[in-house]
Amino acid sequence: MPSERFQNALRGVPQTTPPVWMMRQAGRYHWHYQELRKKHSFVDLCRVPELAAEAARGPVADFDFDLAILFSDILFPLEALGLGLSYDDGGPKLEPKLDASQLARFRSVEDAVPHLEFQREAMRLTRQVLPADKSLIGFVGGVWTLFVYAVEGSHQGSLRKSKADPALYRAFADRMTPLLIENIRLQLDGGAECVMLLDTAAGEPSPDWFRRELLGDVVRIGQAFPGKIGYYSKGSQPAHLRDPRLDDKTFAGYGVDWRWDMTEALGMFGSRGFVQGNFDPALLFLSPDAFADALRRWLEPLAALSPEARRGWVCGLGHGLLPATPEENVRTFVRIVREMIR
Ligand code: CP3
Repeated sequence: MPSERFQNALRGVPQTTPPVWMMRQAGRYHWHYQELRKKHSFVDLCRVPELAAEAARGPVADFDFDLAILFSDILFPLEALGLGLSYDDGGPKLEPKLDASQLARFRSVEDAVPHLEFQREAMRLTRQVLPADKSLIGFVGGVWTLFVYAVEGSHQGSLRKSKADPALYRAFADRMTPLLIENIRLQLDGGAECVMLLDTAAGEPSPDWFRRELLGDVVRIGQAFPGKIGYYSKGSQPAHLRDPRLDDKTFAGYGVDWRWDMTEALGMFGSRGFVQGNFDPALLFLSPDAFADALRRWLEPLAALSPEARRGWVCGLGHGLLPATPEENVRTFVRIVREMIR
């Protein structure tokens, strides 16, 4: 039986100690990942199922997280449709940038899906190498987040090119949304208990624009797999997510960044599903003592809640672990959470 704590969070069963999972827990801060990277490229770690499984297993074995996430990247569906994707030390590179003529050359969804098959096998092997009492989830990027990457090459700056071409977004979304639905299907087939829709750029548009232009695609993905999809939206405010289409059936849960008050987030989403978050990943760079103090201060109001009010909580960060995060503080995080909340 996979992690009981995570299963309880998914089902909204009140419990004392929350499951712990950190986005990017398999990453450059960790010795285990660095050892793998000495021998293999990032792309091979993602594409060779045995390597992906080992990358995902490492941090769970070392830090005793309650769950693992597929080792992969959100950008592969862009490559599957026909954009060039490479990685160097500066991060991902997409060439050429998306415009109407590139979009006209995109593969059909049917032809793109086989390019993502490797994720099913990676998921299956990860399940095999994980201890039976750990949970396993998958992920894809949000449609808007992938659009911004395709158009701008990053999430930095004003995003004026992405925001000023709604027709290009619509044509892109009409291709990407069904592809992501098939991508999720592959991951669920491979054994994911839940798949996160990671929408890192969701908070960049205003709430009104987000709900009018973008939320429809988000909802379509959630509704394709009832009870199976979690929605993480970085930079969003309550107004982005206060919408009748996000009722208690659309998503299995929500992830919030560190700018939310976690108690308020539990109040807003706890009745609709799990709530993942949300310690500030930058605070893991504090000295060990200052970090432990900051963590305890953050946990205090959460520990004071009843298990009922904490229902659904998946304890972790408000975004991904940053490269060069001290491992000691990651270890302390897991220990203190389980000491304070039991
Ligand atoms: O444990 C895990 O969470 C690993 C799986 C994972 C990776 N990327 C591996 C990775 C996940 C869930 C992601 C998601 C992802 N990838 C997002 C959404 C979440 C977020 O962070 O906003 C985005 C925007 C990407 C695109 C991407 N891939 C970026 C911006 C980078 C460079 C930044 C960085 O941290 O290095 C990557 C490369 C990448 N993806 C690495 C890893 C481990 C580093 C590759 C390397 O240099 O070895």
